[in-house]
Amino acid sequence: MTDAIAAQQSLEGVLKDEILRMYQDVADHPDRTFHFFHGREAAELFDYDAAWLDRAPAGAVASFAGVGNPHRRSRIQPGDTVLDLGSGAGLDAIIASWMTGPSGRVIGVDLNPSMCQKAQVHAAASGMRMDCRQGQMEAIPLPDDSVDVVISNGVVNLSFRKRTVIQEIFRVLKPGGRVSITDIVSARTLSSAIVNDPKLWAS
Ligand SMILES: C[S@@+](CC[C@H](N)C(=O)[O-])C[C@H]1O[C@@H](n2cnc3c(N)ncnc32)[C@H](O)[C@@H]1O
Repeated sequence: MTDAIAAQQSLEGVLKDEILRMYQDVADHPDRTFHFFHGREAAELFDYDAAWLDRAPAGAVASFAGVGNPHRRSRIQPGDTVLDLGSGAGLDAIIASWMTGPSGRVIGVDLNPSMCQKAQVHAAASGMRMDCRQGQMEAIPLPDDSVDVVISNGVVNLSFRKRTVIQEIFRVLKPGGRVSITDIVSARTLSSAIVNDPKLWAS
């Protein structure tokens, strides 16, 4: 193993720990101040329907940590199978389940098993079913050609291996499936001081 690969693997490990810590904190203490918008304030900023935010469980809304609104382009249909990649506290999965209706299915995948648990509790509180699997976006724990729509909100930017994530998304999508991702990108090359700072990367 070269020094560069060893250094990247070590940074990737530190980053994963920081991601687990940071978003657990948002889920457990949504009332705290973070380095980014979250909760209802963020969802309103991204044009989520007020009716959705009133209808969803308060905990799912308070712990929302997305960076945009993937529902604007997802065109989810009744009966669809939807994957919410990096589903967090579950707000987007719950909204997706209203769109698929009882004949559809929403599956969440999240690195953090306790986020999965929270999302499932929130979904149940809203009378919806969501199946959440602990797993990594770089190796999505679903078979090939198994979902109609992939949504994801503020998650892909957290990966060191974005090309692999995109390949995984296309692997699990059925032919003709759809992808609606909202995420953050930088139009400028970031300095290595930023890239190598797990706290900045995670947030
Ligand atoms: C910024 S939060 C967004 C959560 C949710 N999408 C939302 O809009 O509220 C990022 C989420 O991605 C999850 N995550 C981070 N890295 C991941 C990975 N490699 N695979 C799967 N999930 C990951 C985190 O645990 C966290 O729940």
